[in-house]
Amino acid sequence: MAKPSPEIALQDRFRDDPEFFHREVLGHEPWGKQLEISRSIRDHRNTAIRSNNGSGKTYHMAREALRFLYAYGPEAVVINTAPTWTQVENQFWRNLRDAYNKARYPLGGHLLKTKLDIDETWFALGIANDEHNMEGFQGWHAKSMLVIFDEASGISPKIYEAALGAMAGGHTVRFVLIGNPTQNSGPFYDAFKDPTFNKIHISAFDTPNVQAKAQIVPGLVTWDFVEEVRKKFGEDSDVYRVRVLGEFPQRASDTLISIDSIERAFGADRELQSQDDDTAGLDVARFGDDDSALVRRTGNTAKVEWVVNGNNTMELAGKCAMYLRANKTVRLYIDVIGVGAGVFDRLREQPDITDRVFGVNVAGKPRDDDYLNIRIESWANVRDWLRDAILEKHEGFYELAQPKYKIASSGKLQLESKEDMKKRGVKSPNVGDALALTLSRATEGENLGIVFLAL
Ligand SMILES: Nc1ncnc2c1ncn2[C@@H]1O[C@H](COP(=O)(O)OP(=O)(O)O)[C@@H](O)[C@H]1O
Ligand SMILES: [Mg+2]
Repeated sequence: MAKPSPEIALQDRFRDDPEFFHREVLGHEPWGKQLEISRSIRDHRNTAIRSNNGSGKTYHMAREALRFLYAYGPEAVVINTAPTWTQVENQFWRNLRDAYNKARYPLGGHLLKTKLDIDETWFALGIANDEHNMEGFQGWHAKSMLVIFDEASGISPKIYEAALGAMAGGHTVRFVLIGNPTQNSGPFYDAFKDPTFNKIHISAFDTPNVQAKAQIVPGLVTWDFVEEVRKKFGEDSDVYRVRVLGEFPQRASDTLISIDSIERAFGADRELQSQDDDTAGLDVARFGDDDSALVRRTGNTAKVEWVVNGNNTMELAGKCAMYLRANKTVRLYIDVIGVGAGVFDRLREQPDITDRVFGVNVAGKPRDDDYLNIRIESWANVRDWLRDAILEKHEGFYELAQPKYKIASSGKLQLESKEDMKKRGVKSPNVGDALALTLSRATEGENLGIVFLAL
């Protein structure tokens, strides 16, 4: 028998010994779970990986895409997608381009922004998660195929179906679903109950920096992050489960707003709606250890302007007055229960801004009878608003997934009180409340009738 050519022998090695490719060719040192992922891709048709945030999923998968291409070509195709185009282009492909450019040997082929071409039937390609434009999922007839869904919780079931169809023809097919398990329904969730998938779980506690409580690999999740989420949300919270433990949320049903709907809104590629409604909400700290937060919502976009510790009435009023003078189109809604009343009164005394300052008594009567008070009504408004919203990413927005709701004895829906949240170790949702204020009914202030019409 003739000896295989050196290239073939090398390809066999790339296939059989993923670590060799990552180390020797890319100069990349995968950590344990990253290697487990590579071995699963070597040995299994389908792999599903649920993981905490910042475990190096995208980093490693982009490098696996290169390994697959050079180990299985010619006639090898790698396709990747993610919920948003930003994730495809600026995360996955930024990693792939970086790995390609820094490889220790020239890899060959022609590298574009979201495509790596070796020839007609030998390439890697990024595809958008767009149900209306699924051509990308047609017409691959490659001998070997790897399909990667990054942040798989957020990928549309229709794209999933299309990918299954497209993979039907290949000889060597590898399908990888990887992501933060934000949603307990949909194809990603189902994969963990599907016997045809090899399943991998990664928790922050498996990762090198958290294990060592020191920075071993810059960029990977840290011990401080784990502690921060634990202190803020509590160990039994869904936020901790999803982001630190890499577990699916327990029951999305008893919290009003799902983590998934928040993450989908972060930097979302969504159409910008009318910016006429320009409203800020101020949530004033109630307890000594709490923060006061100002969130601005303009049409379907929102961002956290600032979060400050404490509730000094004069300081907060001064900060808000400055803010209103600098942002002439903003109307400010303040929760007037407790300390907030002092801030409201102080701002109302100032003639140049007084008509842009409104008070909300969140215990007041809502417009919709199904709700117990304005507080839950405005949180429900946030839930609905989030479907088309664009949030500027801020950790505080995760608070929206915290409060539970229940049915009060009157039969009306009621939101968990800040005090009850405190009791189960969850910090009060200041950013969440501030955003909710921008979608609530004002109970105090000038020209309330006009505000009603605007909402
Ligand atoms: N094996 C590794 N070696 C060096 N740096 C790594 C490694 N894995 C991950 N990183 C670093 O961690 C960062 C976060 O990884 P990323 O893939 O974005 O996490 P995830 O997709 O899990 O949220 C990367 O940008 C990179 O800097
Ligand atoms: Mg990622």
